[in-house]
Amino acid sequence: MGERMTNLPTVQSSGEPALSVAEAIAKRRSHRHFKPDPLPEGLLDEVLGLATLAPSGYNLQPWRFIVVSEPEAKERLWEVSYKQPKILEAPATVICCGETTGWATTLEEMLAEGLRLGAYTEGYSDHVRKAAGPVVEGWGPDLWVNRHIMIAATCLMLAAESLGVESCPMEGFEEERVKEAFDIPEDVRVVCIVSLGYATEPPKAFPGRLPLETLVFWQGYGQPKA
Ligand SMILES: Cc1cc2nc3c(=O)[nH]c(=O)nc-3n(C[C@H](O)[C@H](O)[C@H](O)COP(=O)(O)O)c2cc1C
Repeated sequence: MGERMTNLPTVQSSGEPALSVAEAIAKRRSHRHFKPDPLPEGLLDEVLGLATLAPSGYNLQPWRFIVVSEPEAKERLWEVSYKQPKILEAPATVICCGETTGWATTLEEMLAEGLRLGAYTEGYSDHVRKAAGPVVEGWGPDLWVNRHIMIAATCLMLAAESLGVESCPMEGFEEERVKEAFDIPEDVRVVCIVSLGYATEPPKAFPGRLPLETLVFWQGYGQPKA
């Protein structure tokens, strides 16, 4: 992690400077069709590495990603995702999974790394060991993984966009069939899938967003800005 923090990419695959976060948010659109062009060597690892820098409660990092890039695997995913063409077309689609219980199996590894980096003390680690399970149960593991995996998936898309790679997030898949097709354990949720690559055409007209006054309240629900 330490090395990754000091080795962030500064250029897109085209050689252009990486877009700022604000630029990536403003430019990102959901693309429906992708060119078969592969992603440059190492770029997907870079994007996945940035996605794993997403925040998580107690740093439990319940996300797990499956990269689908081989033709046979793409066909398997396409079959269980309402045959959305982008899955066959894009050089990679990432299945974003959430560990409802498996986060506990990486708890000690996570704490040891925090300790090694000087971020955690033994006392704090003990607190996390006791508190994490009840927190996850309190929220409900399904809500809890959904919350976390969507943050990581968003970081994935924005990291990709900033490095010149376009995307499409999808909830159009049959979760049980995806799990069966990719050997995903019973207690793991498939939260979303994200195609990554280069769009064949400009995005459809921007459909706009609701005005800030509709979406943002101040000091209480439904209250307008003073
Ligand atoms: C959780 C989620 C699920 C989505 N599922 C699909 C999908 O299955 N197929 C698809 O083509 N687009 C999907 N989209 C893309 C939306 O249609 C798109 O974000 C929306 O129309 C706004 O367009 P924009 O992303 O280009 O701004 C999904 C987006 C999100 C955030």
